[in-house]
Amino acid sequence: MRIVMIGAGYVGLVSAACFADFGHDVTCVDKDCEKIAALNQYRIPIFEPDLDKLVESGVNSGRLRFGVDLSDIGEADAVFIAVGTPSRRGDGHADLSYVHAAAREIAGLLEGFTLIVTKSTVPVGTGDEVERIIKETNPEADFAVVANPEFLREGAAIRDFQHPDRIVVGTDDERAKKVMGQIYRPLYLNQAPILYTSRRTAELIKYAANAFLATKITFINEIADLAERVGANVQDVARGIGLDNRIGAKFLHAGPGYGGSCFPKDTRALSKTALDYGVQLRVVEATLTVNEIRKRTMSRKVSGALDNDIRGKTIAVLGLTFKPDTDDMREAPSIALIAGLLDFGAKVRAHDPVGMEQAKKELSDIEFCDDPYACARGADALVIVTEWRQFRALDLERIRTDMATPVIVDLRNIYRPEDVRSAGFRYESIGRA
Ligand code: UDX
Repeated sequence: MRIVMIGAGYVGLVSAACFADFGHDVTCVDKDCEKIAALNQYRIPIFEPDLDKLVESGVNSGRLRFGVDLSDIGEADAVFIAVGTPSRRGDGHADLSYVHAAAREIAGLLEGFTLIVTKSTVPVGTGDEVERIIKETNPEADFAVVANPEFLREGAAIRDFQHPDRIVVGTDDERAKKVMGQIYRPLYLNQAPILYTSRRTAELIKYAANAFLATKITFINEIADLAERVGANVQDVARGIGLDNRIGAKFLHAGPGYGGSCFPKDTRALSKTALDYGVQLRVVEATLTVNEIRKRTMSRKVSGALDNDIRGKTIAVLGLTFKPDTDDMREAPSIALIAGLLDFGAKVRAHDPVGMEQAKKELSDIEFCDDPYACARGADALVIVTEWRQFRALDLERIRTDMATPVIVDLRNIYRPEDVRSAGFRYESIGRA
């Protein structure tokens, strides 16, 4: 199949590289000339494990190329739209201007039957609008618009693409179903089910999935707060409920609140779309509010571990990105935490294994350290915010000797309380009394 991928951002780049790896012929197009020049020299603008190798082998095989113009669209069987849909300033709706602009540009270049596939996360009804724009711009065009949302997790995106739980294809067009079946044929080997639905249903599946996962995390976070008060252990509660197949064990890790490029943005957009249709999604709205409050209150937890005497104290923060194996700082819990600590008059130092460059753009008035031990030296409390593997087996003896006061606040529960306490620390974690 010949594929044009519009957008060399997170989703576009991973999808383009994986489709080329499946054996398809892929042109990945982006307006950002510098990004395209870098990609042509195998320099990847994001941190994603193994993406560099996949891009390099795709380019070397001749099946993957990067460019700034859309001239390959005439030959394409499918044009994927994977441009950004950020939260619109002010109202929380998804900003669809890049999607609409792409539709307009594609329209005049279509030759023969072509699929236009939305891969970006787009509100229900966007496929209809893309179809309208293309028809209006080029009434002669022979095309079908398909919704094909992605469910990739940052840090595990390639594995998720190659071994998806399911592929969702939203279209009623039989020709389109056939082409999509051929595009995803390599995944039959991995027995990934393809779920064919209407276009609007596919668009809603994506938002419902993200809102459900965000709600699941938020639920266990609230149970963690209660566990702390009543003297229970939230990890055992999660295990105890997760073994019920109806609930499932995943996404029940209590922590400092969810962040990232998807959950916050998509839950906001879903509740806004719902209101446009006269439906109030109270559960989703509660998830949004509870999570925002949670991220802000984490600084109080740290302050509590220092008996609320935090002014002028030095706090060492380990992990800044919203989760491990990414350099992404979008809506990371570390941002609200550090803002709160600075408001309390604390001095903040931080270290992240991969995200320091991105973090420097987001965070000011803090000191950045090259490794966890330099960060801990002389500090009054050490706060683990992102569960990078590098932090799971720290030399506690060395840290205790180097710190001004031996206090660890573990917002990801990566240590066993008895181990840290017996190493001589005051230790606070999440939902474990
Ligand atoms: C998410 C969805 O998982 C993915 O399907 C969708 O396509 C994009 O959004 P991503 O944002 O990359 O992926 O990360 P994910 O691993 O889902 O984590 C999101 C946030 O939830 C992180 O801040 C993470 O720390 C937090 N989280 C996740 C928890 O606090 N507890 C959990 O149990 C799981």
